[in-house]
Amino acid sequence: MSEPLLNSNPTSRSSAEDEQDYSEDISLDNSWVPNEKRPSCMRRYRKWIITGCTATVLSVIGIAIAMSFSGNSVKDVIEEGTNKDSSQSWVYNQQPTRFLSKSSSQKPKNVIMMISDGLGPASVSFARTYYQYTQNQPYDYEMPLDKIHVGQSRTRSSSTLVTDSAAGATAFSCNMKTYNGAVGVGPKKNPCGTVLESAKHAQGMLTGLVATSRITHATPASFSAHVQDRDNENAIARQQIGDNPLGRSVDLMFGGGYCHFLPKSEKGGCRSDSRHLLDEATSKYNWTTVMYNSKEAFEALPSDESILPAISLFSSDHMEYEIDRNPQTQPSLTEMSKKALDVLYKATENKEKGFFLMIEGSRIDMAAHSNDAATHVHEILEYQNTIELVKKYVDEHPDTIMISTSDHETGGLSLARQVAKAYPEYLWYPDVLTKVKSSTIKLEGLINQQSTLTRDFIVDIVLKDHLGITDATEKEIRQLMKKSNLDKYLAEMVSIRAQLGWATHGHSGVDVNLYAYGSGSEYLIGSHENTQVGEFITKILDLNLTEVTTRLNLDNPSFHINNLTEKGKLEYNEELQHYHHVPSNLKHQEL
Ligand SMILES: *[C@@H]1O[C@H](CO)[C@@H](O)[C@H](O)[C@H]1NC(C)=O
Ligand SMILES: *[C@@H]1O[C@H](CO)[C@@H](O)[C@H](O)[C@H]1NC(C)=O
Ligand SMILES: *[C@@H]1O[C@H](CO)[C@@H](O)[C@H](O)[C@H]1NC(C)=O
Ligand SMILES: [Zn+2]
Repeated sequence: MSEPLLNSNPTSRSSAEDEQDYSEDISLDNSWVPNEKRPSCMRRYRKWIITGCTATVLSVIGIAIAMSFSGNSVKDVIEEGTNKDSSQSWVYNQQPTRFLSKSSSQKPKNVIMMISDGLGPASVSFARTYYQYTQNQPYDYEMPLDKIHVGQSRTRSSSTLVTDSAAGATAFSCNMKTYNGAVGVGPKKNPCGTVLESAKHAQGMLTGLVATSRITHATPASFSAHVQDRDNENAIARQQIGDNPLGRSVDLMFGGGYCHFLPKSEKGGCRSDSRHLLDEATSKYNWTTVMYNSKEAFEALPSDESILPAISLFSSDHMEYEIDRNPQTQPSLTEMSKKALDVLYKATENKEKGFFLMIEGSRIDMAAHSNDAATHVHEILEYQNTIELVKKYVDEHPDTIMISTSDHETGGLSLARQVAKAYPEYLWYPDVLTKVKSSTIKLEGLINQQSTLTRDFIVDIVLKDHLGITDATEKEIRQLMKKSNLDKYLAEMVSIRAQLGWATHGHSGVDVNLYAYGSGSEYLIGSHENTQVGEFITKILDLNLTEVTTRLNLDNPSFHINNLTEKGKLEYNEELQHYHHVPSNLKHQEL
């Protein structure tokens, strides 16, 4: 890129027009947004008698008392195991011993597994800085995730050094490294039992999936279905409603993607086999609540057991990006998660068995695929908003652990960019992003809708009104008039002005952050393989994935592909080519 240095002048950022922009950009309904720095409960210990810490403190005391009788602590549960041969040995042998002495955790009844698809460490810093800037917070202001950071997750798949979301989620759900594209199947393509399935069938827990992508997309699918290729979403939908060897494993699904549940003859449907899975869900698989495209009906649902099992899907494809979302028609990730938690809590309140809930901020990844920095930041902030909600839930229900991590990083984001030959200044410009009103993929659609595209439309509507760009070069405008590769080109125009770098439109292989809060979270401190996150859930909930794997593979000739030995299922592909550079047909041109 030989663009001139496209400086954004930070001193101009306090104009009245800009102030207005900021308040519109970050909607102030972020419930976790405090007006002042809010110290954590622990840090407020001096005042704990008169603050909200009281409840937490009382429950900790309660747990300690309960434990002295039952001895049912996480420490006991984890150390109870004597089986040292398996890959779970880290749980026994590598516990953070410095925390054991004060471990007072109760064995959790509920697990909330949160996945920020495509959120790498640079993106965490990126969104924090943006938030501090737009909300006028000090440089040491911490986001909800910052307060519960415990370690890293190493993300490679069995087939390559850079995983995709399917292998990434299957590592969490089946505790197994598998090949890119694999949804709930191992390296030999046989179904592997998931933590969700085992929680449901072995433990009688309630289970839920919340995602902003199609609910049939790789991450939620890897907990609830088994296909060799993630693109087989029609099969995933079928399995999710209960048409699989285990029957129905999911009790609640909120998200996007009714496309794969409806025949092509229905509006928004895309099944060619003419099955209407939403009708079948009610008539054959005993789902109580089945609705789509209705935020109103969703909001009217009572928050209790009576609605379960429940499906509510809000879009044929993925749900809208947070930056584009119409709150009249689609709920936010936080709203869906709140409903899910309210329902699952009520349904398990007086029962011995709790719930397993997977919540995915699905589209953090997709915005990074476009290198669309502003859309990426709004997806992350909404995820942080959901984290705050779930943290509050854990505070109020100490029998719960929440885990949050990413399947991989997306985009190769760097918070610096050399935009000219001259040695770069050390900076990047958050203010550029505050002026962006729409995702670049939406703007691409808007441009493509114009039967005759005018220069004025590009300059005044797309660039000025939607992206806040008033210094476009002739070359840039000419390129946009060509209507080619608009999404990525527009995103690039914003990133170069903000001086943000992107290495790829795909994923990268860096370790991602691991977060945990609640009972037993101290066992996740440190650097872990992604598979160990699943092992931890398995251990802490007393699950047995082998049992489910066996049920999935035996006596189901139409479902399984090959008969595998126990060893075969865990066989690791050691014939990696990816350590060696091979001559490529790709031209290493600058994109
Ligand atoms: C649905 O409920 C009916 C009546 O309780 C029961 O007979 C049937 O087995 C259930 N079907 C499934 C798939 O669970
Ligand atoms: C898990 O289930 C399998 C198959 O039913 C059984 O052989 C195994 O002993 C179980 N493992 C544990 C730890 O209970
Ligand atoms: C799997 O094993 C069963 C029982 O041993 C056998 O009947 C079946 O043919 C085998 N299937 C395959 C694909 O090898
Ligand atoms: Zn991705």
